[in-house]
Order: sequence, then structure tokens, then C-alpha cells
Amino acid sequence: MSVKANEAASKKARAALVKSLDPQNRGDSDLLDRFDRWGSDLISGLAEVYDIQTALPMVIDVLIACHANRDESLRARDRKRVLEPDWFQKADTIGYVAYTDLFNKDLAGLQSRIDYLKKLKVTYLHLMPILEPRPGANDGGYAVMNYRALRPDLGTMKQLREVADELHDAGISLTLDLVLNHVAEEHEWAEKARMGDKKYQEYFYTYPDRTVPDQYEKSLPEVFPDFAPGNFTYDKKLKAWVWTTFNSYQWDVNWANPAVFSEFADIIGNLANHGVDCLRLDAIAFIWKRMGTQCQGEPEVHAITQAIRAFARILAPALIFKAEAIVGPAQVGAYLGEGDRAGKLSDLAYHNSLMVQIWSSIAAKDAKLLEFTLSRFKAIPSNTAWGTYLRCHDDIGWAIDDSDAHHVGLNGHEHRMFLADYFTGKFWGSGSRGADFQMDKASGERRTSGTAASLTGIEQFLDDKNKPEVDKAIARYLCAYTMVFGFGGIPLLYMGDEIGLFNDYDYLKDKAKADDSRWLNRPAMNWAHADEAAAGKKPTSVHTRIRKGMQNLIDVRSRLASLHAGVATRAVAGRGQGVVIFERLNPAGNLTQIYNLGEGVRWVGREELPNLNWKVVDHLTGNEFELGEGINMSQYQSLWLQSK
Ligand code: GLC
Repeated sequence: MSVKANEAASKKARAALVKSLDPQNRGDSDLLDRFDRWGSDLISGLAEVYDIQTALPMVIDVLIACHANRDESLRARDRKRVLEPDWFQKADTIGYVAYTDLFNKDLAGLQSRIDYLKKLKVTYLHLMPILEPRPGANDGGYAVMNYRALRPDLGTMKQLREVADELHDAGISLTLDLVLNHVAEEHEWAEKARMGDKKYQEYFYTYPDRTVPDQYEKSLPEVFPDFAPGNFTYDKKLKAWVWTTFNSYQWDVNWANPAVFSEFADIIGNLANHGVDCLRLDAIAFIWKRMGTQCQGEPEVHAITQAIRAFARILAPALIFKAEAIVGPAQVGAYLGEGDRAGKLSDLAYHNSLMVQIWSSIAAKDAKLLEFTLSRFKAIPSNTAWGTYLRCHDDIGWAIDDSDAHHVGLNGHEHRMFLADYFTGKFWGSGSRGADFQMDKASGERRTSGTAASLTGIEQFLDDKNKPEVDKAIARYLCAYTMVFGFGGIPLLYMGDEIGLFNDYDYLKDKAKADDSRWLNRPAMNWAHADEAAAGKKPTSVHTRIRKGMQNLIDVRSRLASLHAGVATRAVAGRGQGVVIFERLNPAGNLTQIYNLGEGVRWVGREELPNLNWKVVDHLTGNEFELGEGINMSQYQSLWLQSK
């Protein structure tokens, strides 16, 4: 599409906006300003994928309608965020991720626990899938049947709005999932398609026979090879094969259709107008299909994200996006924007490699692979940040790149097998209680499920009444989390990890869950332990000890301006095996972090710490000391050092 055509479309769109707005109204004139600022990103993104004359008027109509429904308090929030665009990059941004029902039954239960989150110093809350899913198996809520209602047992949309307000008053922002690659097969679009409605059939990828699916399958990987083999499902009513990348009941939507874009723009507007501050773009990599490819991360994915991000910036600048793209170092940067798109796409992206490398270094007691893998990351736009985490609601895929492994003298396949063995306790002495998730039949490689406390061995050693190993495992756990909190970006604490919740084996009793071991790492909150731990009761219990360590970490992190996400971390392997050094050069103060994941005491020489003066302070303990020739680090010790 030519520049001229885009300009003409833009002029028309602006005229439509002016016509529907009242120049005397502040919110309206703000919207127009934002269109003038971000409209070109919207239009160029749309024009890369759609016929702009068709797509833009549809999107502008949605924009006008959603703007009219945006209430004054949210418009005020928009203005605040425009003045403080780095709100989510600040060091005191502490993330917490929870399933509403597992946290405290429902939204009312959550409301009664906002104070708990506030005391923990959480400022960013991600409520796991909460929109109405299909009944029965629903992939942990990622098979949404209705984007305009909540799961009935959790609450109502009206209540969601109240919860958002209460969270905002407590200084906490709200993140929800936006599942945009697929909808549940019970969603009304799918139902209408089944009834023969052509309009809605074009919302999906449907094929009368296997000819085209078979061609695609040649290059498509399988996401759930065990319980959902293949990428297409035959639907009897539709009399056609439907694209289903994930489970057979999750129908991929056709983003090549501009009507799908404007439907989702409207869904985004509606969620933003309920006070949502951040949308997690679930499985975003998958939304564009191209024959002969793996259909992940195609250029159109980024053009669409650019357009949808610009739409949100114009409508609701209080809203940010987080990309869920579990891809390698070379690909992930594209989701935060590279080249002309730098800083125009998602504001946040998960740092999957950091997570995998922390676990890998713990198992291998070596940091060379971590150093090499992290060195391959390009710089990210200065207005974006990583979401760092030790574990989430999903399995851990052992995303070790073959060539990275080779570079440090490892065999990629063998290392991935080793990690899967290690964290499922097959490796002697690991104490890990993970479970296998999905096996690649050709290679035998598996992914791993389990909570952080169970993967680090705390659960096993506690059962064994092996006190020295419990102590060591807690130190390992806290050291790993200290890396997550020290790396920069929003640290995402998975619900219950502030007290080290163990695996939940009950999922095996539930038919809808039994074949999905990811439920192992989704235990319900244990409030007896959580309250005790928060009050510092039973000081020798594992939960209280973990909470104490985590709270210190959160407190220290919140105060350290040099952890602002605007600067990058450089990860270096120390000379001592298993030593990791994170260097953060920030005009607000350089910070050198040292972690010992090795076996036993490790020496870190002064010459390995070029950014420190003779006298230093360790922020984690408040201790000041002289560096001298270097430092002896005990096993799993962490230091966050700054020159005095
Ligand atoms: C994301 C979610 C995962 C889900 C998948 C399909 O990867 O994290 O839980 O199974 O998307 O929606």
C-alpha cells in the first residue's frame, strides 16, 4: 500500500474522529492528540496486512465507541501514565501471578486479600485466565468462550471493575490474559460458523479435506504432542478441518481477516475500560500462518501487534502489553520491536531464556552456558522491560540451543535430557520432584512441571527430614529468586512462591486435568502457612524462612533505583565454577551482583569485579566491607554490591 493511500486513509479517519468528538471536552481532545501521535503506527501496521480502506474505518468506529465508554477516572489514569510512561520499568515494580480461585476462591476473596499483597509490596498483579472459558477441559482457562464475561464462579465484569479500582487505590496494577490465537469451540463465532454463517466461517481456518492441512503439517511442530497431536481437528457439524494449534477445542482465529482485528480491538477496549492495565498476549507468536514455515513469529505477527498496540495507545495509554513468546534469544527481541518497530510493540516480554539458564546453571553447577546464551541477546528498546521469572503456571521447556551448548563444550540433546532427568529426581542427589510434560517421540526429550520449591528439592529433603539438605535447598531457592529479582525488568512472583508452596498432586484425581502435569505447579494458596509466615510466626518453618528471605529481597529491590529496567544486565561467568556475575551499569548507581551456584565455597577475585571500588556495600544485607583481593562466597550466597 502506498504512502499516499495511507495518508488519504489517515485524513479520512481523523475527520471521522473530529466529527464524533467534542473539542471542548478534555478527554476528547486528548484522544485526538494521541491519534496525531500514534495514528501513523496504527495505519502503517494495518496497511502491511489488510486493505487499509476496509480495515481502518472499522477500527476507527471501534475506537470511537470504546472511547465513549471510557470513564473519567480511567481517563485520569491515562493522563497520569502519559506523564510517567516508565511506571512499569521502575525498581519498585513487583509482580505477582495468581489464579483467582486458587488464590482465595473468587474476586470477593481476592478483595479481602489486597492488603496481603500490599504488605508483600506487590505492585503488579496478573490474574490468570478469568474470562469465561468453555466448560470441562479448558487448558487452564486459555479456551475462552466469552470475552465479555467472567468465569461465573469468580465474579462479574462489574465486580472486575471494582476490583481494578481497589487495586489501583492500593498501588497495584491489573494484568489479564488476552488469548488471541484461538477461541473455545463453543465461542459464538465458532457456533455461528457451524450454523453455516459465511461471515463467521471466515473468522477461522477451515478446510474441506486434508489436502491443505497435510501441506501445512509438513513444517508445523506440535505444541501438545501427547494429548493433542496434529494441528487440525475435524468438526462434524462444520464438515471441515479446523486449525487447532493447541487443543482440539481451541480454534485458531484467522487474523488475515480485518474483521477479526476489529473484534479484538473491541475486546481490548472493553477490558481496558474495566480498568485493566496490562494485557498478556497469549501465544502471540502463532497468530499468522504461512505455508512451509513453523507458523510462528512471521513478520505479520509484528505488523498486527504494532497496529493493535497503537490502537491501545490512542484509546487507553494506561494500558500496556506483555508478549508471551516463548522463543529463543534470536527471536524474542522482535516482540519488543526491532528496526522501524523498536519500542512500538509489546512493552514487556517474558525472559524465558533467563529462567531456563538459571535452572540449567543450578543443575550443572556451571555458568558458562548461561553467560554465552545471555550474551546473544540484543539490546531491547529503552521503553520496554523483561518479565523475569523462575517458574510460571506452565511447564519448563528445556530451551537450550544446540549451537550455544556446542559453544561451551556441551551436547544440546544430552544437556536437555540431563535437565529433564535432574529436575524429575532421576539424577542422584538433586532432590527435585518435577514431573515430565510432553515427550518428543523422536528424541525422547521432555519438558518438566513442578513448583519452584519442589524443583529445588525443598519438598523432598523435608520429607527425608534431612535438615542440612533442606537448608541448602532453601538457600538454592532464594539464590535463584535473587537472580530473578536482580536481573532487571518486572520480577514475576508466582502465587505461593513467597512461602515456597510445594507440588499439588491432586490434579491426578480430576479427569479434566489428569493428563496435564502442569497442574502440579498450580497449587492452591495455603493461607494458614501464608498468614503465619507473613506474621513471622514459627520462625524455623520452611514457609516462614522463605517468606522472610523473599520479603527482604522485595524490600531491597524496591529501594534500589539502579534496578530500573532502562538499562541492560550483562551476565558473566566467574572464574570459579558456578559463579554468576550480573553487571548493571546505571547512572543511578552501578550494581554488581554475584551468585554462587557452584558446589561449596567459591573465590571471586577483585579483578573479576571491575566496576567496584575498594569499599562496597551489599544491599541484600546492608553490610559494608572492604573488597580487598576478593571475596569468598558460600554456596548459594548472593551479593548485590555497590561502591561506597
Ligand atoms: C500459553 C499459556 C498456556 C496455554 C497456551 C495456549 O502458552 O501459557 O498455558 O496452554 O498459551 O493458550
